[in-house]
Amino acid sequence: MNAAVERYYDTTLDLYEDLWGQHVHHGFWDAGERPGNDEDRHAATDRLVRELVAFAGLPAGARVLDVGCGIGGPAMYLAGPLGCTVEGVTLSAAQAARANEKAAELGLAERTRFRQCDFMANDYPDASFDVVWAVESLMHIADRAAFFAEVRRVLKPGGIVAIATWSVRDGELTAQESRVVDQILRHQVMPSFSSLEEHERLAAAAGFTDIAIVDWSANVANSWEPGFAQVKELDNGRSMMRDLARDRGVDVLGFFYAGPLMLKGFETGAVTYGAVRATKPAAGD
Ligand SMILES: C[S@@+](CC[C@H](N)C(=O)[O-])C[C@H]1O[C@@H](n2cnc3c(N)ncnc32)[C@H](O)[C@@H]1O
Repeated sequence: MNAAVERYYDTTLDLYEDLWGQHVHHGFWDAGERPGNDEDRHAATDRLVRELVAFAGLPAGARVLDVGCGIGGPAMYLAGPLGCTVEGVTLSAAQAARANEKAAELGLAERTRFRQCDFMANDYPDASFDVVWAVESLMHIADRAAFFAEVRRVLKPGGIVAIATWSVRDGELTAQESRVVDQILRHQVMPSFSSLEEHERLAAAAGFTDIAIVDWSANVANSWEPGFAQVKELDNGRSMMRDLARDRGVDVLGFFYAGPLMLKGFETGAVTYGAVRATKPAAGD
């Protein structure tokens, strides 16, 4: 799975950057708001980061581990306006290199470092970070119980974990809903989805306290609106996809399949999206 995720993000880096800029995650709008233009795209992805900071109560100046940092979009906000020190890990060497390049361009190289590293096999000492931040990376990690245990290990006592993630409705899905979900998983190189409630249960089982979840499905689903989410070059459609698949391998096509499948998933209510925050108990608690 890790090798496939690495390949997927290596081969789609420029496609995501052309479409979403520095962020590789959903945008956030007020529920019912319609997306506008290209500028709105960037405002909406910036907003998701600010919403998660506010929801998690992320303190300015914190030492942060960004699990699945992409090309560093969220990290630039944490290290810039919030004054955090950010260590970012991604499975993709190409993403890590691009993130370091962007940090240097923005004058943030001293407060950020990005590297290729599997969070589930990281070499950070216990109690290294005030915050573990994971935006849309947890869906790629199969063992979520082990993820929460590892987050707890690397957090300092009193530290916070802040997660934004694709998810599914709690409980059984219908056969038709499961088919859509399975297609999303396959094309986006993800092993499974958990419900937001399942994340809450796993965080509690790992010993976290002050756990909260919020469902942002209605705030982010716009990200896949046709005409907004579609890649402009798709006007010349199939031939471009054929060329990309030939040059980079067929996995790259997952980038194009995400939109219609996610829209369908959100429409049926089978696919959800939300945030999770939790605290590692302070020493003695
Ligand atoms: C959808 S992108 C999100 C990127 C970034 N968080 C953002 O919001 O722009 C998913 C990221 O998770 C990373 N990822 C997935 N599994 C990982 C793991 N086990 N260790 C480190 N990074 C991982 C991928 O390499 C990729 O950078």
